[in-house]
Amino acid sequence: CQLNTLAKAKGLKYFGSATDNGELSDTTYVSILSNTGQFGQITPGNTQKWVYTEPTQNTFSWTQGDVITSFAEGNGQLLRCHNLVWHNELPSWITSGTWTNATLIAALKNHIANEVTHYKGQCYAWDVVNEAFNDDGTYRVDVFYTTIGPEYIPIAFETAALYDSTVKLYYNDYNIESAGAKSTAAQNLVSSLKARSIKIDGVGLQAHFIVGPTPSLSSQISNLKSFTALGVEVAYTELDIRFTSLPPTAAGLTQQGTDYANTVSACVETTGCVGVTVWDFTDKYSWVPSTFSGQGEACLWYSDFTLHPAYYSVVSAL
Ligand code: XIL
Repeated sequence: CQLNTLAKAKGLKYFGSATDNGELSDTTYVSILSNTGQFGQITPGNTQKWVYTEPTQNTFSWTQGDVITSFAEGNGQLLRCHNLVWHNELPSWITSGTWTNATLIAALKNHIANEVTHYKGQCYAWDVVNEAFNDDGTYRVDVFYTTIGPEYIPIAFETAALYDSTVKLYYNDYNIESAGAKSTAAQNLVSSLKARSIKIDGVGLQAHFIVGPTPSLSSQISNLKSFTALGVEVAYTELDIRFTSLPPTAAGLTQQGTDYANTVSACVETTGCVGVTVWDFTDKYSWVPSTFSGQGEACLWYSDFTLHPAYYSVVSAL
């Protein structure tokens, strides 16, 4: 049986994958990604980000993002749209610009208004703000925080809600998958937005994990519940579980299966957890080796499209 079919039978809305434009010329890859038994949801891995969509100020470019959204729509797959505001993959006119509070707020609002309008009706959810906190729970110091202060986050959510009143608005981050200062900071953000009646519908937990130290099932469930108790849904949005040294041992592959199964089970066992997205399904196109040197084999399919043992662990968990 297949991942999305099983996930839906367990009450999730989807099991999904990230993808990227360059991969869509790989016919073996596409035959798996477009199989809605396996994947009922797609996230554009890059091409909805700011550097792609507004490379020069107020000149918008949707061509590359639209390739992914059209692919999902053609297959009848849900879309998680990703992302509107992030410290990374920003155009240089933002990072090297000379800003005042007022001019950067105007640029931020203009970006969100245009992108949300362009994709209106196509997205199940938008990751409105991505990775705004440090691991100790303080705000990440980026151009938005430095110029606007923490108020850039409520402004982003308010603006997104203004241009699409039905899409789910998410805060998305990593290292918030078990209790700790960063998870608490994300919970406090949810509470503060809700206290101001600013729309936030969900929290995305990226779940870029390491084989072995992946949080336990019980710690993941209790953490998910601390979010859903605030009145938001949750989703695992970028799941991958990497080996920090390669090649993996047989015991390591078994542990990877346990770690994947625990994460998927935590979602299944938490009311209000709507789905799991892997940050691409094959090692062939994983972001891990280029970001974490010497690490990898983090996905459910090997580079040659044979299956990791962890694939079967996920099937068993669903
Ligand atoms: C990654 C992409 O997968 C890479 O191709 C790109 O070079 C960098 O960004 N957290 C996120 C994602 O929210 O957008 C990131 O995606 C991975 C970490």
